[in-house]
Amino acid sequence: MFDAKKFVREKVEWLKETIGDEKAFAAVSGGVDSTVAAVLGHMAVGDKLTVVFLDDGLMRAGEPQQVYNRLKQLGLNTRIYRLWDDFFAALKGLIDPEEKRKAFREVFYRSLGKISEELGAKFMIQGTIAADVVETKAGVKTQHNVLEQINVHPLERYGLKILEPLKDIYKHEVRAVAKALGMKPESMRRPFPGPGLSIRVIGEVTPERVELVRRATKVVEEETKNIPCFQAFAVLLQDRATGVTKDLKRKYGEIVVVRAVKSKDAMTAEPVALPWKILRRIERRIREENPSVTHVLYDLTGKPPATIEFE
Ligand code: XMP
Repeated sequence: MFDAKKFVREKVEWLKETIGDEKAFAAVSGGVDSTVAAVLGHMAVGDKLTVVFLDDGLMRAGEPQQVYNRLKQLGLNTRIYRLWDDFFAALKGLIDPEEKRKAFREVFYRSLGKISEELGAKFMIQGTIAADVVETKAGVKTQHNVLEQINVHPLERYGLKILEPLKDIYKHEVRAVAKALGMKPESMRRPFPGPGLSIRVIGEVTPERVELVRRATKVVEEETKNIPCFQAFAVLLQDRATGVTKDLKRKYGEIVVVRAVKSKDAMTAEPVALPWKILRRIERRIREENPSVTHVLYDLTGKPPATIEFE
C-alpha cells in the first residue's frame, strides 16, 4: 500500500537537503501534480521557493486567474508571467503534433530559464509523474515536461537544474498525497495537459482556433461537472464538413469532437456513457456559441487504441 504521509516526509527531507541555502522556484500549471510538487517545495524551504505560473494563452476560460488565486490561498509565494505572444509565435504555422509539442516545450523551458536567472534560483521543481516518463520513454508521445528521456539536457540547454519529487508515482497516488497535505478538492481538478489547448486544436494553433476550443471546453466541463469523469473536453479538428443553414444555404463548417473518459492512472481509459440529454445539450450549446461549427461528434474510443488527447 502506498503510504502518502511517509512519501511527504521523505520528499520534503530530500528537497530540503538538495536545495540547502539556495533559492528555488516551482513551475506550476495549477494542476494537481505541479501544485503538489510546489507545496512539497514550500514545506521544505518556505518562501525561498517562488511559485511561477506561465500564462501561455492556452489555458481554459478564466483559468489563469483561478490558478493564481488558488496558489495564493495555499500560501505560496506566486508570480504570474503573461507570455501569450511568445507561445503563439512559436506555434505559428505548425501542424505536426510532435513538432507542436516540441515548439511548446522550447518556449516553456526557455522562458523558465530566463525567469530562473531573474530570480537567482538554482533549482526548479516540477510535477512530472511516472506516467509522463513511461509514455515518453515508450515513444507514445513526448510529454511536455520530460527532457532527460529525449536526450535534452536541461542544465546545458536552458540553465535549469530540475527536481522532480513525483517522478516515481502515478496520478491516484499524487491525489492521495494531495489529500494527505490537506489540499481541498478544488485543487484536485481534472487533469489538463501541460501544452494546454494547443494539443486540442488539430492543425495550426491560432488565437482564434484556441478561442473556439476554449468556448467548447467550457460547455463540456459545465455540462459534465456532476458526472464522474477523469477528463471531459472538446477538440477542434482540421477537416471541414458540409452543413446547411436555416435558409438552405450550403455551409462548409468546422468539426468539434467531444471526449469524456474514465481512467485511474491515464495509462488506459474508457469512454464515459454520457446521458443522451447531456450530449444533445452539449451539441446544441457548442453550435450556438460557435456559428462556424456544423458538426459535433462524440468519441467512443478507449485507450488503447486511442490516447486520451488527440495529439
Ligand atoms: P494521453 O493523451 O497520452 O494522455 O493518453 C495521458 C494523460 O496525460 C495528459 N497529457 C499531457 N500532460 N503534458 C502533460 O503534462 C503533455 O504533453 C501531455 N499530453 C497528454 C493527458 O491530458 C492525460 O491526462
